[in-house]
Amino acid sequence: MKALVTGATSGIGRSIAFNLHRRGWDLILTGRNTEELKKLKKRFGEDTEIVAADLADRDEVMKVYDFCRGKDIDMLVNNAGYGLFGKFDETDLDDELNMLSVNINALHILTKLFLRDFKAKDSGIILNVASSAGFMTGPLLSSYYASKNYVVRLSLAIAEELRRDKSNVSITVLCPGPVDTHFNDRAGVSFSVKPISPQYAAEFALNKAFRGKLIAIPGLMVHAGVIASNFAPEKLISAVTYNIQHSKKVAEDKKHR
Ligand SMILES: NC(=O)c1ccc[n+]([C@@H]2O[C@H](COP(=O)([O-])OP(=O)(O)OC[C@H]3O[C@@H](n4cnc5c(N)ncnc54)[C@H](OP(=O)(O)O)[C@@H]3O)[C@@H](O)[C@H]2O)c1
Repeated sequence: MKALVTGATSGIGRSIAFNLHRRGWDLILTGRNTEELKKLKKRFGEDTEIVAADLADRDEVMKVYDFCRGKDIDMLVNNAGYGLFGKFDETDLDDELNMLSVNINALHILTKLFLRDFKAKDSGIILNVASSAGFMTGPLLSSYYASKNYVVRLSLAIAEELRRDKSNVSITVLCPGPVDTHFNDRAGVSFSVKPISPQYAAEFALNKAFRGKLIAIPGLMVHAGVIASNFAPEKLISAVTYNIQHSKKVAEDKKHR
């Protein structure tokens, strides 16, 4: 069995790669960090293939797909992504468009192309990494939350199409709350609540994906929060989310004092 894992150089993607390797899977790993990719190849052995790519660039996304062509991939893990903190009128437009290209465009392209391949052979698993943010409005991280809403909605829609087709292809969307990775360093915030480990997130996600489950939300509190958000008024959710994101920034500022 062979999987392509994007964002394999760090955090959740790295843990997914280690977990799949332990389960005996062959791997194709991608990210921009060439040194880390080489270390992973050395660690996992010669069967592991690596392809460095910046997924903000559509040509590089296609490079990754072309690299995988004819390699009989059984699982696509769309994990690469990041967040940008700040008021919408203050965040840098180029940074934001770059983020949307990674979080949305790259995932969209790879999902479509692999889905076609998987449907042609009537087997395959897609694991899309969204976030609990994908069920909510996210002031101070507005476009990140919006991008993860896209991932959740796209995945749910594809799942229904697959169900109607009686397809053996499955799609799972991972929606974690805080996970202890490099995510915060890049977003410029600190967690205000205790994060789960990337190893736990990876194990949870893969167990759900292998059982063909659609939504994977690790952690009881996060799960409860997502369910509650379905019933709470939208304005209340926005106010709560603003406070959560604001407290992360306060925690980060304290660290630097
Ligand atoms: N940590 C959390 O609290 C949390 C919660 C919910 C969801 N998530 C989601 O989990 C996923 C993984 O994030 P993480 O928490 O594991 O953060 P991380 O440790 O920062 O890892 C992010 C990964 O994405 C890759 N990546 C980022 N920009 C890229 C680009 N332009 N081209 C190619 N690869 C790129 C990075 O690889 P290179 O640096 O090598 O390019 C890295 O491997 C993201 O989609 C994130 O939104 C995270």
